[in-house]
Amino acid sequence: MIKRSSFFLFLFFSCKIYSQKFEGLALTPPMGWNSWNTFQTNISEELVKGIVDVMVSSGMKDAGYSYIVLDDGWMTMERDPKTGDLVADPKKFPHGMKALADYVHSKGLKFGLYNCAGTKTCAGYPGTRGYEYQDARLYASWDVDYLKFDWCNTDRINSIEAYTTMSTALKTAGRPIVFSLCEWGTNKPWQWAAPVGHLWRTTGDISNLFDGILDHGSWQQQGIMRIVDSQDTIRQYAGPGHWNDPDMLEIATKEKGQPGLTPDEEYTHITLWCLVNSPLLLANDFTEMDAFTKNLLENDEVLAVSQDSLGDQAVEIARDGDARVYAKKMADGSKAVGLFNTGTNGTITVTVKWSDLKISGSQNVRDLWRQKDLGKFKNDFSLQVAAHSAELVKISK
Ligand code: GLA
Repeated sequence: MIKRSSFFLFLFFSCKIYSQKFEGLALTPPMGWNSWNTFQTNISEELVKGIVDVMVSSGMKDAGYSYIVLDDGWMTMERDPKTGDLVADPKKFPHGMKALADYVHSKGLKFGLYNCAGTKTCAGYPGTRGYEYQDARLYASWDVDYLKFDWCNTDRINSIEAYTTMSTALKTAGRPIVFSLCEWGTNKPWQWAAPVGHLWRTTGDISNLFDGILDHGSWQQQGIMRIVDSQDTIRQYAGPGHWNDPDMLEIATKEKGQPGLTPDEEYTHITLWCLVNSPLLLANDFTEMDAFTKNLLENDEVLAVSQDSLGDQAVEIARDGDARVYAKKMADGSKAVGLFNTGTNGTITVTVKWSDLKISGSQNVRDLWRQKDLGKFKNDFSLQVAAHSAELVKISK
């Protein structure tokens, strides 16, 4: 017979191992695809398999994109009346979620789902409130690797408790799952969520606007510059394993009635999201991806800035009129530096001063978008930057 003390020791170490597995899951910002920004609830097995296939064949997988996350709209409107389990919509997903997860895994990718801490999701499907352990077990049985957990219909719920309960339920279910908190920064998750999950949304929803707000009356969406402006004050809370999440990418997304970002604005979007260590979750229809978008998303030297092991979140180090400079420390001792022109009045000169970077002497500058050395510079370095565009360089001794 096993002694009581040995049993508790076994339990203690098993829990510790699970918890360690959970903690090491997102040592760099997660990269992948999420259905929401383009497809909203119009998702299906066929669509997702198409995205998966192109993710592999186009080189996106090799570039580092690995998660395929189904956002809101994958369920039926009610739980199973007998078991209380969530049910994958049989019209959209005729072979169910386990079969889809198996397909995603067979291609060497990872599979994610969405639900909500409230009684219903934002689009009105069954939420997880009161079913945390049951849903966590179901996700584990489907081999889910990533859960995005939203914050609609949560009247009077304490957010720290709600997210901690779901986090504990996932750990107890035993399958390592990246836990993405999506409570829009309402309760300052950066202050408490590092032990709870791997990433936390810091703002309301993004839109494919360069700046400003898209007002829907009861809720609003924000442009990329407005979102990134709010990240500096919380940068110290993020690092390997726990990331500020300024929302998913809006590259080549189509939202009703909006033209979307221009190519220059897309350079700005990716450059900023890599510098501030945002998760890189795309939402575009890969089956329609043109050469420009593919090149934009697969540049290995640019993505290396996002995936740098140090996990230092960039900070704005200079602003002069429309010119802005963001800098991030890299693990190899170099600096990744973004030069931005937020104005609309044509090309301007943007200068990076060594004194702002707290470096001195002769430095090598490499253009990361064009993957080309630009030479050695003393004291400062300048580039011409087009309206609403960005340049990204690496500065090293
Ligand atoms: C909220 C989230 C979005 C998306 C939708 C789904 O608005 O912030 O990212 O998940 O819900 O309904």
